[in-house]
Amino acid sequence: MQDFLKGLPKAELHLHIEGSLEPELMFEIGRRNGVALPFANVEEVRAAYEFNNLQEFLDIYYQGAQVLLHEQDFYDMTFAYLQRCREQNVIHTEMFFDPQTHTDRGVDIGVVIRGLTRAMEDAEAQWGQSSKLILCFLRHLSEEAAMETLRQALPYKQHFVGVGLDSSEVGHPPEKFQRVFEQALNAGLLSVAHAGEEGPPEYIWQALDLLKVKRIDHGVRCIEDAALMQRLIDEQIPLTVCPLSNIKLCVFDSMSEHNILRLLEKGLKVTVNSDDPAYFGGYMNENFIAMQEALPMSKEQAAQLARNSFEASFLTSEEKVRLLARLDQYLQNH
Ligand code: ADE
Ligand code: ZN
Repeated sequence: MQDFLKGLPKAELHLHIEGSLEPELMFEIGRRNGVALPFANVEEVRAAYEFNNLQEFLDIYYQGAQVLLHEQDFYDMTFAYLQRCREQNVIHTEMFFDPQTHTDRGVDIGVVIRGLTRAMEDAEAQWGQSSKLILCFLRHLSEEAAMETLRQALPYKQHFVGVGLDSSEVGHPPEKFQRVFEQALNAGLLSVAHAGEEGPPEYIWQALDLLKVKRIDHGVRCIEDAALMQRLIDEQIPLTVCPLSNIKLCVFDSMSEHNILRLLEKGLKVTVNSDDPAYFGGYMNENFIAMQEALPMSKEQAAQLARNSFEASFLTSEEKVRLLARLDQYLQNH
């Protein structure tokens, strides 16, 4: 079963590129940029990755991102992640990036976007890696700051497919960003938002109705609201669920209590994702394997999760047909 999961062609739809920065690369980039880290070595960094909630993680995650200054730093981080995609049969990925984490330190948004896109182009040229970018606004910052970020990003619009909303959820409801998302939608971008990770089902309703999102990131708290569940099923709104992340951030006490298979069985369009793999103990295959070890996941369910990941992606219908054919071929042979 584990070999089947590893070989399964899949797409990743919920991945923060800054959350893929492994401690080894964090130290290497910090050294070459003269940015000191408050840890003596890689082992100390890993030992600090114990979190009781989202905010404890975010504090360390924003600190780690401070080593990133130059285009090459963003390139190296992104290329390393795309190589993991290749190793794990993630044949398409849609990566979040947080420009404000960098522009607030004086890094130009163009430096960030050029580094990311150059890595994506090289991975595409070298092994045909398919990838897209989604720009996320930090919801703990103001509406004005998000507006300004959108203004700075629009000249690079051809490099990203949509906008998202991340960072500290509780106390920062989607409605705070309704006008920003309206402008992004008017510019022809798609939208997604983190909702129902730590926040209540009401935030999922707002993301759908006010931000017009095409997918909900996390969304696991939808199970508390029957009418919301019915809407997500009726409209087949995808949820990008992140099992290992949810355990590391104590959204569920243990993987055996995770509701991902219950949501799938009820007919929701659920997908599996790694969120911040360098911080949460694994990439896509480690997520599938952790589920398989703790939950009664059948081969058919794993295949359905992979199928959902392509269907829920922002690929064109032609691209979806092509990648779904690769999945079908794999399933015929395994
Ligand atoms: N930024 C990076 N990972 C996140 C998560 N799981 N929730 C909210 N913001 C994030
Ligand atoms: Zn996330």
